[in-house]
Amino acid sequence: MAVQPSGKKHVLVVGSANVDVTLRVGVLPQAGETVLARSVRETAGGKGANQAVAAARAGAGVRLAARLGRDGAGDRLVAAIEAAGVDVRAAGRDPDHPTGRATVLVSDDGDNSIVVVAGANGALGPGEVAAAVGSTGPGDVVVAQAEIPADAVAAAAATAARAGSRFVLNLAPYRALTPGLLAPDAILVVNAVEAAALAADSGADGVEGAAALAGRLGCTVVVTRGAHGAEMAGPGAAAVRVPALAVDAPVDTTGAGDAFVGVFAAGLAEGRTVPDAARRGCVAAGLSVRGDGAQASFPDRAGIDAAERARVDA
Ligand code: RIB
Repeated sequence: MAVQPSGKKHVLVVGSANVDVTLRVGVLPQAGETVLARSVRETAGGKGANQAVAAARAGAGVRLAARLGRDGAGDRLVAAIEAAGVDVRAAGRDPDHPTGRATVLVSDDGDNSIVVVAGANGALGPGEVAAAVGSTGPGDVVVAQAEIPADAVAAAAATAARAGSRFVLNLAPYRALTPGLLAPDAILVVNAVEAAALAADSGADGVEGAAALAGRLGCTVVVTRGAHGAEMAGPGAAAVRVPALAVDAPVDTTGAGDAFVGVFAAGLAEGRTVPDAARRGCVAAGLSVRGDGAQASFPDRAGIDAAERARVDA
C-alpha cells in the first residue's frame, strides 16, 4: 500500500562524494589487457552523495555529511547535490586534499568496474560526523558506507545509537566489520559479493544468506542480489525476499546499489517496514539501470510509485 508523504522525514547520509569519470567500453578488460573506450564523461558520483540524492528524489528530507576538496570539482559536486534537494551544510571543504575521484568502466551489457581515489573523503573526521549525527533523533535514519575512514563510520554508528536514530550501514566497498559496531536495531546492507566476503571473514563454511548473517551479527541484514531482488532477515527470524524490477537490457548499472540504499532509507524514515522499504529500493534500482550514470538515472517518487503500481497491476 502506498504511504503518502506526511510530516518531515529525515535521512542523514554520512559518506563520500566523487567525480565519476566514466569510460564506455565493449567488454570490461581483464588483468593485463588494454581496451579502447568509445566515450568518456564526467558526472557527479560517490556512494554517499548518490544515496543522498536517491533518498531526496524519493521524497525524504536529506542531509549529507561529507568532505570534498576546496576545488572546482568540489564546487560542481556541491552544486549538483544541492540542486537535487539535499542539505549540504554538513558537507565540509578540505584545503589539503582534492575532491574524490572514481574511474568507472561500463561495458555494453551495462556491467561496471570502479576504482576510487578517496582524496578529501579520506579526511572526513569522527568529530564532524558525530556533530552531524548528534542532531538526529528517533525516527531519523543515518546511513553510512565504506568509502570514508573506519573511525568516521564508527562515530556515525555510536552516535546514532546514542541519539536513538536508526543506523544503516552499506558495507561498500567491503571491509571487515569491527566487532560491536552494529547495534541490534541497526541494518547492514550488502550485495552478494560483500555478503560472501563477510561470511568468509567470520569463518563461515561457504556462502551465508541473510538469516545466517543476521544471526551471527545480531542485527538486521539485507542482501541485494541484482536481478534476483533482495533478501533480508533479523536475528532469529526467517528470511524474507522481495523481487527485482524486470529490466530487459540494462544500460548502466553504476549506482544501482546506491539507488536501492537511498530509497530504502527514505522508506524507513517514512515509517515503512524493512521489506516494504526494500521493495521500493529494488524498484528504484531497476529504474536506475535503464539510464546512463549514477545520480542522473535515479527515479523520483512519482516514478517509483508508478513502477510499483504497474508491477502490482501486471
Ligand atoms: O556506487 C557507485 C559509485 O561508486 C560511483 O558513483 C563511484 O563514485 C563510486 O563511489
